[in-house]
Amino acid sequence: MKGLLLNKIPLSLYVHLPWCETQCPYCDFSITTDPVSGNDAKLAEAIIKDINQSDDLIAGRKFKSIYFGGGTPSLASVESIKYILDSIKERFSSEETEITLEMNPSNASEDKIDELLMAGINRISLGIQSYNNQELQALGRNHDRESAIQATQALKGINSTIDLIYGIEKQTTESFTANLEKIIQSNINHLSLYQLTIEPNTIFYKKELMLPDEETIEKIELIAKELLEKNGYQQYEVSSWAKAGYESQHNLNYWQFGDFLGVGPGSHSKISNEQEIIRYRKIKPLGGYIQNQRSTDLKTISDNELDIDLAMNLLRIKNGLQQKDLTIALPASFLKKYQRGLDEGLLLKDRIGATQKGYRFLNETIQLFF
Ligand SMILES: C[S@@+](CC[C@H](N)C(=O)[O-])C[C@H]1O[C@@H](n2cnc3c(N)ncnc32)[C@H](O)[C@@H]1O
Ligand code: SF4
Repeated sequence: MKGLLLNKIPLSLYVHLPWCETQCPYCDFSITTDPVSGNDAKLAEAIIKDINQSDDLIAGRKFKSIYFGGGTPSLASVESIKYILDSIKERFSSEETEITLEMNPSNASEDKIDELLMAGINRISLGIQSYNNQELQALGRNHDRESAIQATQALKGINSTIDLIYGIEKQTTESFTANLEKIIQSNINHLSLYQLTIEPNTIFYKKELMLPDEETIEKIELIAKELLEKNGYQQYEVSSWAKAGYESQHNLNYWQFGDFLGVGPGSHSKISNEQEIIRYRKIKPLGGYIQNQRSTDLKTISDNELDIDLAMNLLRIKNGLQQKDLTIALPASFLKKYQRGLDEGLLLKDRIGATQKGYRFLNETIQLFF
């Protein structure tokens, strides 16, 4: 794999804050419902230690973007967020570095948002999932329509994004449309739209659910496309829609195969050097991570795996990538498989990306790279 790097690979920082008030029955993220107080400052301290111990992985690079994800980062104190940001200020690539923090409606008041902005956050990601009480109950959420509306209003004038889930039990095309209309009316400039996935090791996996059928799902996706495009949003990735100029810089770095340093319990990293690309994972238990921020897992991506890893990321970008945007030289084996996709009309000729047909059946298109 030697010699793959074309440029210095951009590096983003992901900070995992695992706090949750309750465990949602569909979620398999690395979370804890342990009390925040008592551990909040200790975790912030451990995170800073972790970053400061990662100079070999950072390799002199500045963070292109920063993302506080969870869990529910809005449960952390503003002091701990400010402490983390103040401690790494000299590591930002510029004054405009995108710094996102995820919030849940049950703790996203106007005051809290103001304090977070003062602390240095410049983009809020709000996990609404739905504005419909029946759907929120079906998802086991601890917020209702009223608090979802209030939290959305609190985002007025702020660079922000909302997460919606579709394919919820008993969801109809009408209730989905109402969810989407609420976001459009609220003038939110970015939206992540996820189909509910039933993950192993979740409560939903063991439950009999009355999920909408395939036909309803297809209708929902068509409604989303029509309604969002009509209102000035463009899809730029499988689940991501944005008004022009509001695409997530942090997530784009993942899909463009940039590097990311993950800190916090259970966080993932991907780091490249001249010789290899390595994926790391931090230990999951909160107490263990606070004690010792070592990685439990360390896996070098082999030449064989690289093709599929590249395809699973690059091909998610709706309009593809120009050669000049690539940070690594595409391996000969990747290009050979790409040629097959070109011949079958699934992949683009002038850019690295999928055609309309290839994008519609993206999972199948990606299979070409195994
Ligand atoms: C890690 S969660 C954190 C956000 C925040 N804690 C919340 O729940 O609102 C990020 C997003 O992933 C999505 N998500 C989590 N589990 C999912 C699942 N099983 N299917 C679809 N989307 C899911 C939700 O939209 C959620 O907002
Ligand atoms: S969906 Fe969000 S709030 Fe619910 S358990 Fe997962 S991270 Fe926590």
